[in-house]
Amino acid sequence: MNESGCELLPWDSEFFGVRIARASGERADSVRVAAIREWCTAHQVDCLYFLASLDDPVTLAALCTPPFKLVDLRVTVACPIGDKSYEVPSSVVIREWQPRDLPHLRAIASSAYTDSRFYFDQRFERALCDKLYETWVEQSCRGQADFVLVAEHDQAAAGFVTGSLRGSAGEIGLIGVRAQLRGRGVGTALMQSALERLRLRGCTQVELVTQGRNIGAQRMYQRLGFVTQSIKLWFHGWFSQRGDSIG
Ligand SMILES: CC(C)(COP(=O)(O)OP(=O)(O)OC[C@H]1O[C@@H](n2cnc3c(N)ncnc32)[C@H](O)[C@@H]1OP(=O)(O)O)[C@@H](O)C(=O)NCCC(=O)NCCS
Repeated sequence: MNESGCELLPWDSEFFGVRIARASGERADSVRVAAIREWCTAHQVDCLYFLASLDDPVTLAALCTPPFKLVDLRVTVACPIGDKSYEVPSSVVIREWQPRDLPHLRAIASSAYTDSRFYFDQRFERALCDKLYETWVEQSCRGQADFVLVAEHDQAAAGFVTGSLRGSAGEIGLIGVRAQLRGRGVGTALMQSALERLRLRGCTQVELVTQGRNIGAQRMYQRLGFVTQSIKLWFHGWFSQRGDSIG
């Protein structure tokens, strides 16, 4: 790692069509920010991601200044899993994903995650932000997640949840419900099914990440027993004018 602690992100750069890098560590002072600027200029970086600690005033003073912009609070929540099984309401049909679901899952994903930092930033092309989540759900189905569960409504996918297990630690990746069907218990039923699946596989703790501005999702997780693990701050620093005209 170089002195500035930055590295280029080839996948993100290719996907968004701008040069993107990420800073390591969670702290910075004015000296480090100067080193980051120098590195970004030398490497023609358009956008730098910085995930910062919330509890260091020096870091906040260094990053709450152009070209950095606060774009999200990264909220990690966790839920212990015991012996008790999760009851899934029989009114919601939940099953494994099938290839015929993919167009529906892509459609749900491409419009569901407008609370994320990529949309909030407004310098990433909106169509590409939509495509990011379409790609994510598709890759989850193709094996990047251990399972993808689908809630069915009128013989089509109404929502989905992706999950993975590493040892006894479970993770929920993405959850989304078709906009017209939200607020009817589908999301909660998907979560209960995923938690039960993880429990039966020996999971003792499940984690997931959400956005500080996503109060609706947080309320759903809290009702299911999730509590806050950590809150960190996502900053994006734009070092070029690229992306200025998109939004
Ligand atoms: C979050 C989400 C999956 C919840 O699914 P849902 O089917 O609406 O959830 P439920 O009906 O089981 O309701 C659970 C809670 O979610 C809340 N909720 C969240 N978003 C909602 C929305 N757009 N419409 C209605 N209720 C919503 C409900 O208010 C309810 O909480 P409350 O009882 O305190 O009011 C769904 O709103 C969604 O797909 N949102 C967009 C994608 C997203 O934000 N995913 C989570 C990323 S971490």
